[in-house]
Amino acid sequence: MLIDTHCHLSKDYYDDIAEIMKENKAAGVFKIIVSGCDKKGIREVLDLASKYDDIFVTIGYHPEEVDTVSDIEIEELKKSIKANKKVVGLGEIGLDYYYVKDNKEKQKALFEKQLKIAQELKIPVVIHSRDAVKDTIDILKKYKVKGVIHCFSGSLEVAEIYIKMGYKLGIGGIVTFKNSKLGEVVSKVGLDNIVLETDSPYLAPEPFRGKTNSSKYLKNIAEKIAEICSVNVDEVSIKTGQNAIDVFDLQAFL
Ligand code: NI
Repeated sequence: MLIDTHCHLSKDYYDDIAEIMKENKAAGVFKIIVSGCDKKGIREVLDLASKYDDIFVTIGYHPEEVDTVSDIEIEELKKSIKANKKVVGLGEIGLDYYYVKDNKEKQKALFEKQLKIAQELKIPVVIHSRDAVKDTIDILKKYKVKGVIHCFSGSLEVAEIYIKMGYKLGIGGIVTFKNSKLGEVVSKVGLDNIVLETDSPYLAPEPFRGKTNSSKYLKNIAEKIAEICSVNVDEVSIKTGQNAIDVFDLQAFL
């Protein structure tokens, strides 16, 4: 079963969400996990989850939201997770030093506040880490949580550290890009340690690179991984689908 474990299905990017869901089904993508990572996004994804059986959500504040989030929002976040069965994870949360480097301590504080909630509520996390590998690992080591390293594109060495800590790697369109080294990493860590994601509308896989991405293109990512791992594409869907079901505890919804 193809499950898109991370996407941003929002009216900001798509005119007709019902149509997108139909296209997903036609492409064999039966369940998607939509991420809401700012105030507006969180409201929107909770609304989507209540309308569509096949939509699950993760909610949490992205590091770029650091200046918009106070303890009130953090309390609200915790309440929303407790109140909604279809919230299957907390995220995307983490550290992003790519654009802004002068607020590292603030980012870390927001990250840790949310990790505490995940630990307390025993809910998996979806980690966003950009140019911040060392700090991300150091912080994650302090908490007993599991989850997905979203949009993983690091080295084999870093992949193995996360896997050892109990995380799955979220593999998306980057694996299909020419000159990407991610394929080598995926072939070495194997299907047991990955889940599939599109991160749509961003990062469309080949041959759609540069266009608006959609969950239906998960198929193209699965096909590339099948080629890399020299297995049948069905094996990729089944194995990564089961990994997603396990990480996000989706069994009860199937
Ligand atoms: Ni994302």
